[in-house]
Amino acid sequence: MKILTILGARPQFIKAGSVSRQISKYNDIKEVIVHTGQHYDTNMSDIFFDEMKIKKPDYFLGIGGKSHGAMTGQMIEKIEEVAIKENPDFIIVYGDTNSTLAGAIVSSKLHIKLVHIEAGLRSFNMQMPEEVNRILTDRVSNLLFCPTDTAVKNLKNENFPFNTLNFRQEIYKVGDVMQDGAMFYRNFATKPSYDIKSDYILCTIHRAENTDDVKKLTNIFESLNQISKDIQIILPLHPRTKKMLTNLNINTHNLTIIEPVGYLEMVWLIDNCSFVMTDSGGLQKEAYFFKKPCITLRDETEWVELVECGANTLTGANKEKIINAYKNVVKFKDENLPLNLYGGGKASENIVKELLGFMQ
Ligand code: UD1
Ligand code: UDP
Repeated sequence: MKILTILGARPQFIKAGSVSRQISKYNDIKEVIVHTGQHYDTNMSDIFFDEMKIKKPDYFLGIGGKSHGAMTGQMIEKIEEVAIKENPDFIIVYGDTNSTLAGAIVSSKLHIKLVHIEAGLRSFNMQMPEEVNRILTDRVSNLLFCPTDTAVKNLKNENFPFNTLNFRQEIYKVGDVMQDGAMFYRNFATKPSYDIKSDYILCTIHRAENTDDVKKLTNIFESLNQISKDIQIILPLHPRTKKMLTNLNINTHNLTIIEPVGYLEMVWLIDNCSFVMTDSGGLQKEAYFFKKPCITLRDETEWVELVECGANTLTGANKEKIINAYKNVVKFKDENLPLNLYGGGKASENIVKELLGFMQ
């Protein structure tokens, strides 16, 4: 069996690493990895793959830092060339990025079976490019691997699975591949060399809905500045956020702003922080895996079960809500958390078993 895996964003490499480690246990499965180049981080070089114990990509397309249309279009063209050459049995895509959508379109044009890992997630916010990417990808996928019951329910509510004469769809709840990664990399966590106090908040902000809205970005940073009078805030800064902060001359003097960090350092920062504040999808779950509360600077989340169990508080970019959530975070008790919301680290194993079953 030959699999073509399409990756672009850093979290996709982390998740795919777990699946690749499972695939490599089977001599009769060959995986070919395509890196679209979407990720902004220049230090995603050979060292990244060695450090992360991830198979190096077989193809690097070098498509990044462009408008979404240009990026997606160029990816479709290049991925199609690779797919024709490699002629795989399956194309695997992860999550909701432009690279995901590009891979999905290629597979449907070439009639190659499409596997969507992290299927069924919804924010119900159609202004998010990620929401559009994941809905379109789900629709043309043959195997929909859902991380949670909510994701399965979302698909059922949209009348999935769609089965026609020459198109078959199957839905499986397999757990969350990000948990597999978090459990694996915990053993390799690396303390960063920055001056880190014993109590600190780990914060990331990169979503366009926050960075590209002056009012929201200003509210978030005013709140962070206020909170930073009590506790250190460590903020690995995404390039787009950096650009906007500079353009708008927003004050960040009291925050510990650092370059985006490698994942092994990130795991250390999550494992040792007091709590997390973020608009990242992945980090919300990682906070839970490491039993840390999370304040999510968005109006909605795909990970609703974390809000329901009290591990996550949604504040949007509302100053009053952010400050209130910060004041309430001390009441969080990790012993009350449900243990197994995301499959307990078995997602990649489940996925590869189902793939093998699908081929028979
Ligand atoms: C993408 C994903 C997002 C994921 C994130 C994490 C989509 C629609 N979004 O968003 O879901 O969470 O990756 O990996 O696929 N830039 C610079 N300097 C650089 C390089 C890039 O300023 O050196 C800017 C680009 O102009 C762009 C942003 O950084 O504004 C990155 O672009 P993009 O590829 O859209 O990725 P993300 O917004 O990070
Ligand atoms: N991450 C990282 N270094 C950083 C910022 C994020 O290693 O400087 C990791 C983070 O821990 C998570 C993943 O990248 O595993 C999430 O990426 P991001 O927030 O960019 O994307 P999202 O999850 O929102 O798609």
